[in-house]
Amino acid sequence: MRKLTIAIDGPAGSGKSSLARRVAQILGYLYLDSGAMYRALGLKALRAGMTSDNAPPLAELARGTHIELKSPTEEQEAAGFKNRVFLDNVEVTHEIRTEEVAKAASLIATIADVRHVLVAEQQRAGAGGGVVMEGRDIGTVVFPHAELKIFLDASAEVRAERRWKEHQEKGDVLTLPEVLEEVRARDKRDRERKVSPLVRAADAVLVDNTAMDVEETARLVVMLSREREKELAQAASRAG
Ligand code: CDP
Ligand code: CDP
Repeated sequence: MRKLTIAIDGPAGSGKSSLARRVAQILGYLYLDSGAMYRALGLKALRAGMTSDNAPPLAELARGTHIELKSPTEEQEAAGFKNRVFLDNVEVTHEIRTEEVAKAASLIATIADVRHVLVAEQQRAGAGGGVVMEGRDIGTVVFPHAELKIFLDASAEVRAERRWKEHQEKGDVLTLPEVLEEVRARDKRDRERKVSPLVRAADAVLVDNTAMDVEETARLVVMLSREREKELAQAASRAG
């Protein structure tokens, strides 16, 4: 059976990583977190003191950066890490999961030349098919011909609560209103930026998981994937 390219887009905390990881596990596909690449570059920019949105030096920084995504070890998986992330060959899996880095990522993500560099990397990484890639522009820009597109959403309050719980577990001292404010600010930047804003692709299936857990949502998406696989197989046998 031909393997699909599955694109999952949606706002912060909508459950993209959990869903994409679980669907990839069930189908035996590769899971790729494009947001982790923006976060890794955001971390590098923060460390270099580049906190403005001055495009040329940030684009230069992106061109001179090597980001790699790898599967997690069993311990990392058990601790909730779905991807291992390497920035210029040094692991930054944990360091990129802060609100400060998320904000830096969403700032540099507004720059067209930065996006060109990362989108090209993402297209290379997913070129063979059999991938579940998640982010903001996967179904619209990175893989506009993906065979299955999901736009995942949930209310801002529920999304902030999910993120806040993760911070609590790590011992971060953020309040729920602070996390909600950051989630709303990031939503606004991601949806209103000029280049590749977060929008639902016309052919994406809208899934609202405000009241659904990861497993239920994954079952739904796996069912949709199997249907698409069958349709493609039938189309191929008719053609050949
Ligand atoms: O990748 P994204 O920011 O869209 O979300 P995530 O990292 O997959 O999920 C954020 C948190 O919400 C995680 O701790 C998930 O376990 C949790 N979650 C949930 O409780 N119910 C869902 N349906 C989806 C995610
Ligand atoms: O996990 P969460 O949904 O909170 O964020 P993320 O997926 O790790 O992405 C961090 C930031 O990177 C987002 O707020 C976006 O601004 C940016 N991003 C993007 O612009 N395009 C993508 N394909 C993925 C992330």
